[in-house]
Amino acid sequence: MFYIAGTGSALPEKVVSNDDLAQFLDTSDEWIYTRTGIHRRHVLTHERLDDLAILSAKRALEDAHTEGKDVDLILCATMRGDTYTPSLACTVAEAIGSHAPAFDLNAACVGVLYAMEIADSFIGTGKANTVLIVSAEAMSKLVDWTDRSTCVLFGDGSGAMVVKRGEGRLAGVLTSDPDTKSIRMPNIEGMNSPYNQIGQEKLAMYMDGGEVYKFAVNAMGHRIEEVCARANLSPADIDWYLPHQANVRIITASLKKYKIDKDKVLLNISECGNMSATSVMVLLDEYAKKGTFKKGDKLLFVAFGGGLTSGAVIINWNKE
Ligand code: UT7
Repeated sequence: MFYIAGTGSALPEKVVSNDDLAQFLDTSDEWIYTRTGIHRRHVLTHERLDDLAILSAKRALEDAHTEGKDVDLILCATMRGDTYTPSLACTVAEAIGSHAPAFDLNAACVGVLYAMEIADSFIGTGKANTVLIVSAEAMSKLVDWTDRSTCVLFGDGSGAMVVKRGEGRLAGVLTSDPDTKSIRMPNIEGMNSPYNQIGQEKLAMYMDGGEVYKFAVNAMGHRIEEVCARANLSPADIDWYLPHQANVRIITASLKKYKIDKDKVLLNISECGNMSATSVMVLLDEYAKKGTFKKGDKLLFVAFGGGLTSGAVIINWNKE
C-alpha cells in the first residue's frame, strides 16, 4: 500500500575508532573487527538526539518533495529519546510544522520495520496518505562504557523515510520470541520513590552475546523465508538485502543457505557499528543517495533485536 518517496539521515560528528576505544578498554581493533566487522562508530558529544532526528526528518521530507503540513502520521522508532515526554515524534512534529498524530515506538533494533507495517495499516485503512518514519538512537547513553563485551558494538545516529500511498510494499512479517534476559537495558531514572520496594536494577546494559547470536542467525533466516513466501518470491529474486547491522558474521551466517550473491547484501557496519533501529535507515539512505537502487528493484529489510523481536519487509523501489 506504500512506496518510499524520500530518505534522509544524520550522524553525530564525532567518530570513534576501535583504536580510540583501546585507549581506555582492554580491547583491540583486531578483536573487534574480526568478531564483528566494526572499525568505527559515530558518538553523540555536543549534539542532542532530538537535533539529529529533526535533521534526518527534514532531509527525508526534502528528498520526497513533501512539506511537514502534508504528513498524516509521524512514527519514531527509538529505545529512548532525550525526553520521555514530549516524545521524539512530537519534537519532530513541532520542528516540521505538523499537527499529525505522532508517537514513539520501541521494538529495539526492529523498530523501523514495525513502523513500516503500522504505516501500511494506516494507509491501507484510509487513515493516512503520507507517513514520516524516523528512527533515532543514542546507544552511547544506554551502554556500560566499562563493559568491553557490549560498548564496542554500538553507535549513535538517526534516519528517516517518507512513505506514500501507492504500489511498493509487497509483504511484511513481524514477530516476538519473548526472552527478557538475553538483552536488558534497565530504565535508570525515577527510582527514588519512597514507596519503591524493589530497589534498582543494575544500572547498565546486559547482553548474553552468544545467546543473542544464535537467536539472530535463526530469526533472520526464518523471517527471510517467511516474507519471501508471503510475497510469492524466492530469496534469489531479491535485488538488495538490507539487514540489521549487528555483526557481519550474523548477516553472513543467516544468508548462507540461500546462496545470495554477496554484492546484493548492503553493509555499513564497519563505519557505523550497530545503531539499533537506525541501522537499516542509514543504510537505506546511504545506498539510495549513491543511486544503487533502480526503479522496480526489490529491497528486503530484515532485523532482530531486544525483546526478542524480529521481522522482515519487502518493497519494490518505486521512487522516481
Ligand atoms: O542488536 C542486537 C545486539 N546484539 C548482538 O547483535 C550481539 C550478538 N552477539 C555477537 O555479536 C557476539 O556474540 C559478540 C560480538 C558480542 C561476541 O563475540 P564472540 O565470538 O561470541 O565472543 P565471546 O563472547 O565468546 O568472547 C570471547 C572472548 C572472551 O574472553 P575469554 O572468556 O575467552 O577469555 C571475552 O571476554 O573475548 C573476550 N572479549 C573481548 N576481548 C577483547 C569480549 N569482548 C571483548 C573485547 N575485546 N571488546
